[in-house]
Amino acid sequence: MNAAVAIKVLGIEVKYKSLNVLDDLSFEVAEGEVTSIIGPNGSGKTTLLKTVDGILKPYRGSVYVDMKEVCRIPKKELAKLVGYVPQLVNLQQGIKVIDFVLTGRRPYVDLLPTKRDVDVALSKLRMVRADHLVGRDLNELSSGELQRVMIARALTSEPKVLLLDEPTSNLDLRFQVEVLGIVRELSKIGMTTLMALHDLTHAYRYSNKIIMINNGKIFAVGRPEEVLTEENIERVYGVKARVIQDVKAVITLDY
Ligand SMILES: Nc1ncnc2c1ncn2[C@@H]1O[C@H](COP(=O)(O)OP(=O)(O)O)[C@@H](O)[C@H]1O
Ligand SMILES: [Mg+2]
Repeated sequence: MNAAVAIKVLGIEVKYKSLNVLDDLSFEVAEGEVTSIIGPNGSGKTTLLKTVDGILKPYRGSVYVDMKEVCRIPKKELAKLVGYVPQLVNLQQGIKVIDFVLTGRRPYVDLLPTKRDVDVALSKLRMVRADHLVGRDLNELSSGELQRVMIARALTSEPKVLLLDEPTSNLDLRFQVEVLGIVRELSKIGMTTLMALHDLTHAYRYSNKIIMINNGKIFAVGRPEEVLTEENIERVYGVKARVIQDVKAVITLDY
């Protein structure tokens, strides 16, 4: 039996003013699936994530999350449905980790967070192995710690889908693997994840499905071994690469 569809993107066109960035994009993400969006810089990955999160509105076409059309869901309800972690930004203000994570709980909080809100925030911090950071200031965290805290904040709204924009981009190898391991664990408990990734080896190893985009169009979509072919990589990135299927790795040959 096929899993339920968590995200459905149907023929979307997204523009910034007159610049057409996404062009007739369609795909589905099944519940519990990890889907990676790959493609060169400027190909439209961030724009796509922002459109699924409702920050950008498609000029044509529709996005559905949990069978509901995103642009028709009230903001507060949408925040309960979709957790979005933008690309790592520098947060300089002296805000405590717990208070920051609790801001993810906003759609449920009337005036002040209740014990239940705090318990949820703490359990999400535990889930990403960051509960020891609860009393620290955000600006005292390493990039790896901050990325985990950002994910905990997104999870605190108890979303159906998690959107991650290059969650490993500023991290050293160990933290990259750790963050992707968390994504995999979340998937095992039913979380649907759509993330932009640069590292093709990571995309190969951690995704159920890959969407390869180029110039705002889908170039290929399917299982990692179907999408990550040497030919596709050369055509989209202009780089010769070798795909090593038995260890699920992509290496470049231009050096
Ligand atoms: N706020 C914006 N205003 C105008 N153009 C933008 C804006 N954000 C992104 N773009 C353009 O849209 C295209 C896709 O960008 P983006 O979605 O950020 O790509 P990616 O995340 O794949 O690097 C690029 O050509 C970029 O210059
Ligand atoms: Mg981007």
